Amino acid sequence: MVLVELIIFAAVAATFVYCYIKRSHKYWDERNAPHLSAKSFWGNMENPFITKKGLKYDLKNAHDELKRLGYKHGGIYLFKQPVYLCVDPEVCKLILTKDFQYFGGRGSTIDYKTNPLAEHLFNLEGEPWRSMRVKLTPTFTSGKMKQMFDTLLACGIPMLDRIEELIQQKKSLDIKEIVGCYTTDVIGSCAFGLECNSFKDPNSEFRKNRRNVISPRPILVIVAFLRFVMPAVLKILPFKFIPQDIEDFFIGAIKNVTEHRSGNKIRRNDFVQILLDLQEKAKADGQEPMTLTEIAAQSFVFFVAGFETSSTTMTFCLHELAFNQDVQDKLRNEIRKTMQENGGKLTYDGVMGMKYLDGVVNETLRKYPPLPMLFRKCDRDYTLKDTNTTLEAGTNVFISILGLHYDEEYYPNPEKFAPERFMDENKHSRPQYAHLPFGEGPRNRSRYV
Ligand code: HEM
Repeated sequence: MVLVELIIFAAVAATFVYCYIKRSHKYWDERNAPHLSAKSFWGNMENPFITKKGLKYDLKNAHDELKRLGYKHGGIYLFKQPVYLCVDPEVCKLILTKDFQYFGGRGSTIDYKTNPLAEHLFNLEGEPWRSMRVKLTPTFTSGKMKQMFDTLLACGIPMLDRIEELIQQKKSLDIKEIVGCYTTDVIGSCAFGLECNSFKDPNSEFRKNRRNVISPRPILVIVAFLRFVMPAVLKILPFKFIPQDIEDFFIGAIKNVTEHRSGNKIRRNDFVQILLDLQEKAKADGQEPMTLTEIAAQSFVFFVAGFETSSTTMTFCLHELAFNQDVQDKLRNEIRKTMQENGGKLTYDGVMGMKYLDGVVNETLRKYPPLPMLFRKCDRDYTLKDTNTTLEAGTNVFISILGLHYDEEYYPNPEKFAPERFMDENKHSRPQYAHLPFGEGPRNRSRYV
């Protein structure tokens, strides 16, 4: 008898959930907005628990479908959540830049008390973001980049030694691991003021923690799913998704550097120094200085946002160069010529002047954008220009970078690796917002460079 009651209860609950989700899938219809109908119970997503592809391909497919139907933008559903997708580069420009005042944040639902390291530039919104952004702007200037160039070169020496060693021993190179160590050393040095020695010391604390931060954990998959698909649940259930040992490690690293520098009156040209100077300035001006945890959070985002993005870009770039000998030869010639002109040295200005290198990197970022989508949350009701479509406050707005970067209209034969697409004579033939590897507008990190 109990079993029968349980079955009836489960059937009623399942019917209720099914009807509730189906009801949610009428959202765009009811608002008379251009949209794609939900494909299944999961909306316009594949079942996230069995698909091997994931959200970036769901968004690309929706982008392609909206474009095929002749829409410049349109609604879709991520499970039960209605979201709006921008397809046309001019609409992307409105959302990211021109009408930024409506789309200032990314819709973070993270509980910072549970995850203090997550209270950083990428997640902050509104006034706290603005004020942090203004404080950190000096970090992103080309002058600062120039100062850090010597660090980049110095970190390259142990990398070259390791590559030479492996070649001598006739061993194969795990290029992802090699550029991973290089990037760890660069970011460890620039953002934490540490010498990480990833090549000499495979068990270095920084290298171990780098692996822990980036290795996929089930909790991260759940948090990512809830963030976009059921954000209300994240607000109610404050998950701790940055493990305690990682939190302790990064806060401890900043504490040690701070004490070492102030104790020994040491100054360096790095990000930590900018944060420490800000702290001193706030004290001198009688303002509330940043806490150690707040400083650690800003360094942490440099690590999280900078590590995977830079190391995968280098890896894919080398992969493409290996498969495209003509591109490799052309690039090698440019590098040799530039070095000859600069007394045999690789200089900051020399690198910045290499146009073909710029094309190679831009083409790598087109084919393999490390962040394949951009997202914003609408702060207040917003009516799209020349339409009757109003996005209600709270609506998530997405841009599929992958969709734009593989659009045949802007990139004929998009699978082909062709740095020429980014040479001066070609790059102006398509809209600027058709290439968005770093995002755009005030929330693009390099906007102030
Ligand atoms: C190939 C390298 C990189 C790529 C492709 C990349 C891509 C991106 C993208 C797409 C965004 C979102 C922009 C938007 O929403 O409009 C972003 C934001 C951000 N990135 Fe990067 N990034 C790279 C390297 C780095 C590095 C090296 C750092 C730090 C050292 C960094 C720090 C940040 C920060 C702090 C933000 C948030 C800015 C804000 O919201 O104010 N990124 N990045």
